Amino acid sequence: MLDIVIMAAGKGTRMKSNRPKVLHTLAGRPLLQHVLATASELGAQRLITVTGHGAEAVEAAMRAAFPGAPLAFVRQEPQQGTGHAVQQAVPLLGADGQAGGTTLILNGDVPLIEADTARALVQACGGERLALLTITLSDATGYGRILRDAADPSRVLGIVEHKDATPSQRELHEVYTGVMAAPTAALKRWLAALRNDNAQGEYYLTDIVAMAADEGLPVVAAQPSGEAEVLGVNSPVQLADLERRHQLAQAARLMEAGLRLADPARFDLRGRLSHGSDVEIDINCVFEGEVQLGDRVRIGANCVIRNARIEAGAVIHPFTHIDGEALGVRVGEDARVGPFARLRPGAELGPEVHIGNFVEVKNSTLARGAKANHLAYLGDATVGERVNFGAGSITANYDGTNKHRTVIEADAHVGSNCVLVAPLTVGAGATVGGGSTLGKDAPAGQLTVARARQVSLAGWKRPARKR
Ligand code: UD1
Ligand code: MG
Repeated sequence: MLDIVIMAAGKGTRMKSNRPKVLHTLAGRPLLQHVLATASELGAQRLITVTGHGAEAVEAAMRAAFPGAPLAFVRQEPQQGTGHAVQQAVPLLGADGQAGGTTLILNGDVPLIEADTARALVQACGGERLALLTITLSDATGYGRILRDAADPSRVLGIVEHKDATPSQRELHEVYTGVMAAPTAALKRWLAALRNDNAQGEYYLTDIVAMAADEGLPVVAAQPSGEAEVLGVNSPVQLADLERRHQLAQAARLMEAGLRLADPARFDLRGRLSHGSDVEIDINCVFEGEVQLGDRVRIGANCVIRNARIEAGAVIHPFTHIDGEALGVRVGEDARVGPFARLRPGAELGPEVHIGNFVEVKNSTLARGAKANHLAYLGDATVGERVNFGAGSITANYDGTNKHRTVIEADAHVGSNCVLVAPLTVGAGATVGGGSTLGKDAPAGQLTVARARQVSLAGWKRPARKR
């Protein structure tokens, strides 16, 4: 039986921010959300988060991020050290009453820990050994050092915090990462015996290691697959560093699967990206939420794309912003979008649709081959096949209170600078003269013009300048 405790009560003073540290985001999601997502893959009976600084905001954000998940929170107020933090979770640990349980301890500000690493540590513990995740760093300043038996270096004897370490202990490069798996019953016993007579006047979780060693309980150490997995976030610099490492790792994985990135150092994925074959992404693009790219899709430089599905062969030209929010956006096969286009929630572009510069589409469907190439707004519109929607034309979908639909049937031609005041229908094959403001339907197949008739006054003279 596995319980997991995530420590997330700390203030994060060095972030110099009013936001609780664990709510700062990496790849678009709060640090703690990364940890909880990984932890929830481990099949624990309980997932307990220790909150303190900004507890209400932290708990609310996590409940929103994992709706319906059985998350448990305990408060640590004030924060008197990592041992004190885990003590707050004790009433919930091993609640099934079974012996032989394991408690895994994770950090809310160490976001990139991998499930496999955590699983291996839990296995190494097996409910009967104390398993520590350690790593060897060239610069170990600030970390707790792993003390090993000189006679038998396979035996771990304890952890000494940097601030309490002697000069020779500070020479040690193997450090505690902040992650451990402990036999639950013994952990409770050790936590109850912790004292705070140390350099920081805190209850150190790390003091339980010497207690285990003294009892003759085996203490084992395991290592993560990479350094980034155990790097914590304490400052904006560290946050940005971890973001880059994470982005480069994601980019490398995608490129191994065949995605072609113009520059993996100028690519940001804040969510999930799936792709077909021969997909190319130019520099400085940001992908958020859930994005699917079909075969041969090309994305130009400087695009931001969120919650969208882009079908095979479509091309998104530079500086295009696509945000499907909750409804999503779909771009059909071989469609062309941008440069400088904006697709908003509910934009559904059929195959071979063209959306050009400074065109905004919201909650509208465009059937095969429809075009809006310049300076237009299509909101709450149903646009038929091969429609041409002229430069500067808009659907006036909002009367100040309600939204209304505009229907433009197949092969209609809407000239430039038209205002279609919804609700109305432009019939199949209709032509709307440039500059028209329509408040009624335009019949199929006819020319409809709604603007002042042009007049020319022969013999008209400009007024003379007054002296
Ligand atoms: C801790 C370890 C140190 C290890 C290092 C790795 C202890 C005593 N030391 O030191 O051996 O090398 O992590 O990064 O455990 N927290 C609480 N409540 C508290 C104090 C801390 O919830 O009262 C949380 C923090 O929010 C953070 C985590 O525990 O997520 C670690 O605390 P931190 O203060 O960063 O510990 P370190 O001094 O870095
Ligand atoms: Mg720390």
